[in-house]
Amino acid sequence: MRDILEKLEARRDAARLGGGAKRIEAQHAKGKLTARERIELMLDHGSFEEFDMFVQHRCVDFGMDKQEKPPGDGVVTGWGTINGRKVFVFAKDFTVLGGSLSETHAQKVGKVQEMALRMRAPIIGLYDSGGARIQEGVASLAGYADIFKRNVTASGVIPQISVIMGPCAGGDVYSPAMTDFIFMVRDTSYMYVTGPDVVKTVTNEIVTHEELGGASVHTTKSSISDGAFDNDVEALLQVRRLVDFLPANNMEGAPEWPSSDDPLRVEESLDTLVPDNANQPYDMKELILKVIDEGDFFELSEKYAANIITGFGRIEGRTVGFVANQPMVMAGVLDSDASRKAARFVRFCNAFEIPIVTFVDVPGFLPGTAQEYGGLIKHGAKLLFAYSQCTVPLVTCITRKAFGGAYDVMASKHIGADVNYAWPTAQIAVMGAKGAVEIIFRGGTPEEIAEQTKQYEDRFLSPFVAAERGYIDEVIMPHSTRRRISRALAMLRTKEVERPWRKHDNMPL
Ligand code: HXC
Repeated sequence: MRDILEKLEARRDAARLGGGAKRIEAQHAKGKLTARERIELMLDHGSFEEFDMFVQHRCVDFGMDKQEKPPGDGVVTGWGTINGRKVFVFAKDFTVLGGSLSETHAQKVGKVQEMALRMRAPIIGLYDSGGARIQEGVASLAGYADIFKRNVTASGVIPQISVIMGPCAGGDVYSPAMTDFIFMVRDTSYMYVTGPDVVKTVTNEIVTHEELGGASVHTTKSSISDGAFDNDVEALLQVRRLVDFLPANNMEGAPEWPSSDDPLRVEESLDTLVPDNANQPYDMKELILKVIDEGDFFELSEKYAANIITGFGRIEGRTVGFVANQPMVMAGVLDSDASRKAARFVRFCNAFEIPIVTFVDVPGFLPGTAQEYGGLIKHGAKLLFAYSQCTVPLVTCITRKAFGGAYDVMASKHIGADVNYAWPTAQIAVMGAKGAVEIIFRGGTPEEIAEQTKQYEDRFLSPFVAAERGYIDEVIMPHSTRRRISRALAMLRTKEVERPWRKHDNMPL
């Protein structure tokens, strides 16, 4: 018996070595951890339960049947806990055939995808892979398609998180693209459909891995990635932090953690946040940080479309999604990128029953040919559509400008927000005074224009015209914003909305 147990231990030890000591060394030399080291770091200590450690590929082409068959076949799969909460995980093992995906590798990933869905628990994929196992051809493509289909079935049911931790091509970027969040590691991770060599062959373009698909590209230009971290350790610790904000599934409701931050806390400094000069910017993040519990904010897509802020915080210990115009960047204007970014976030929150708080200071939609040719109408409509679809509690607070269509779009009362507050500094109007008067009084003398501008400012650049109509429920003191929002969210816990049956909507994609 003893020798049987020893044999098992020896087989396990061999499997744990993946592609062998030399390749592990090479992995470390690149500043990357191995698949198992990553899982160990991400999950609670000792909580990982591995599946399918001994699975091997069955490929016989290109001499694959003559070579040693590494156990595990390039991916480590199983489940464990993050701060005591169950998660499923798969981590591509680059030391085994570059983490490439074979038929059996795909079956391992599929098994944990199915278990995660059945158990209604989040799934996290750690990617470091050369894409389809070239030697397996169409069997590998079929494996990817199975994974994609499961990604879509699970979408909106359980959170799916992808962390890109090495060069990833082909199917290993398409699957992440269908998950809820993608994070990258700076300088060691890349995402592209085809790598630099293929690009050169097909288009003659010479481009580096970083230029083609590094974190610097995907967090600023393409918006594929929701964030980037300096190294594997930081990335994995931040994923733990994110998971704490997320519900396990779409039925569980936003998670709650103990908080010692008084929900009725008053923040006097907010009374002077908005400058006297309406054209002077201020940092909207300061408001978010002062309103949420303990200033603990998990921001998403910070470097992309920074004119809008999206991220998770907590109020009274419960997760809340925050969407806020940022006057520090392009005066907080809504453009195509900002609209798409916020729309995707709003839809995630709604799908997973996370209440949304929206802070508004928006001068309107960005005018111009660049925006119109780029499809601003449809992109702006995405945000309008996303908010209008929401059944989760929506609390909105206008701090300063809420002009034109952007007023409607930014979680106004009219599209379904439950509680709409405005600070006394709010200006709710079709447009700013100068633009309005120049249109209505075209050809007026300078004196007339000045007089009309003053009248317009006095009458319309305030929250009271909207408050008189009940579009704003209450004009509140800035210092009491946290208390007001906490109480509103507490009241809205029992919100229920009935929707007519439909197969699905037809949102403007
Ligand atoms: C089989 C692969 C492989 C692959 C890498 N390897 N990619 N084996 N299939 N796709 C193996 C290498 O042979 C090598 O084996 C080991 O992994 C490490 O690879 P290196 O090239 O030495 O590493 P590196 O220099 O770091 O380059 C990594 C890389 C490069 C950028 C990922 O390997 C690469 O370009 N691979 C091909 C990428 C690609 O085009 N894949 C197909 C995508 S199409 P040894 O034995 O030396 O350790 C696709 C279709 C699905 O995925 C699409 C669905 C929509």
